[in-house]
Amino acid sequence: MAKDSKVELKKGFRDVYFDRTTTSLIVGKPGKLLYRGYTIDDLAEHSTFEETSYLLLYGALPTSSQLDCFTSDLKVSRALPDEVLQVIDLIKDAHPMDVLRTAVSIMGLSDADVMDVTPEGALTKGVHMTAALPTIVAAHHRLRTGNEPIAPNGELDHAANFLYMLKGETPDPLDARLIDKDFVLHAEHGANASTFVARVAASTRADFYAALTAAIATLKGPRHGGAAEGAMRMAEEIGSVENAEAYVNAKLEARERIMGFGHAVYKDVDPRAKHLRAGAKALGEREGQTKWYSIIDAVTKTKAMQRRSRAGLNPNVDLWAGAVYSLLGIPEDLFVPLFAIGRMPGWAAHIVEQLTARDILRPRLLYNGPEDVEYVPIEDRT
Ligand code: COA
Repeated sequence: MAKDSKVELKKGFRDVYFDRTTTSLIVGKPGKLLYRGYTIDDLAEHSTFEETSYLLLYGALPTSSQLDCFTSDLKVSRALPDEVLQVIDLIKDAHPMDVLRTAVSIMGLSDADVMDVTPEGALTKGVHMTAALPTIVAAHHRLRTGNEPIAPNGELDHAANFLYMLKGETPDPLDARLIDKDFVLHAEHGANASTFVARVAASTRADFYAALTAAIATLKGPRHGGAAEGAMRMAEEIGSVENAEAYVNAKLEARERIMGFGHAVYKDVDPRAKHLRAGAKALGEREGQTKWYSIIDAVTKTKAMQRRSRAGLNPNVDLWAGAVYSLLGIPEDLFVPLFAIGRMPGWAAHIVEQLTARDILRPRLLYNGPEDVEYVPIEDRT
């Protein structure tokens, strides 16, 4: 943090509050996360992605009939317009996050009400895009692997239908439940980088798809959405439990970061992590494949990471997400798109909230370049 005579710089906006929100509460120490007042523990254990999405979008838990109605709305919005499928096919060799970003942009072109920037309009679009994102990701994966996209299955819930469209077979209910829980755990997280840019775009009254495209573009960064991929790559590099200690020491000596550890807000435990840790363990045991869980667990137990844990640097949710996705046979470059599918209702809730706010989000930069420099005509410059 640097100080000028009057200005205090808050690098990375740490501890800067730019507005109020009713979407979520994140407490860094002790680690605590509430969506609309409900603890992440209750939601992870007892809720579903559909119910949690309703909670985030409409602000309260649904009754049975409200949930039925919402679930039907989601199901009818799963199919993609033909032109979106055609564009996905045209660009199928690109990175899945680039395809997702482009497809969302094209979805905006297909919406006759694209310039409806009322909170109610954004809410409708939020429901629609919550339903559509899994179809985009799955259709792209099918096309790039030489297969036809699979139409959504109205008999299946959100998470199960995603796995079905991706793999072409009805998933084991336990696998579907685990992905459902993963989506719940990723659904909302305050003013993180992608949500913040979505709110900046919404504050200018750019359309919903513009805000969403900006969020997806930002999530692509390895410091934001890429941690699950990084953590899984780390486990592959370590290769066996015995190598964990030496690997971690070498990385830290080289002043590199251990992927899946640390958080900008949580300076204690990440309350989401234990749920995916338990899921990764159970899934590994079910599949007779405990290797990845054991290696990642060994990393958390190395002397260096135990020491850092006591100082507040702990596993985050994405340390375990990569192991879950890998065990379910999901390719590494789809890990960030899965994060996007989970985060979709959170982004939508924030866009809606920002559309009720008056101010354009416009921070300032403290200039520290030269001043009053003499303009020299080009022919006189050396
Ligand atoms: N491994 C080792 N050291 C780490 C670390 C990690 N994953 N994360 C932070 N640190 C260290 C930093 O090197 C720094 O040490 P120093 O003060 O000796 O230089 C200190 O902890 C504070 O780091 P800082 O970058 O200020 O923390 P932050 O809270 O701003 O960073 C992250 C948050 C998420 C960007 C950071 O922890 C990180 O890069 N983690 C790995 C990527 C990841 O898992 N991201 C997913 C987040 S959900």
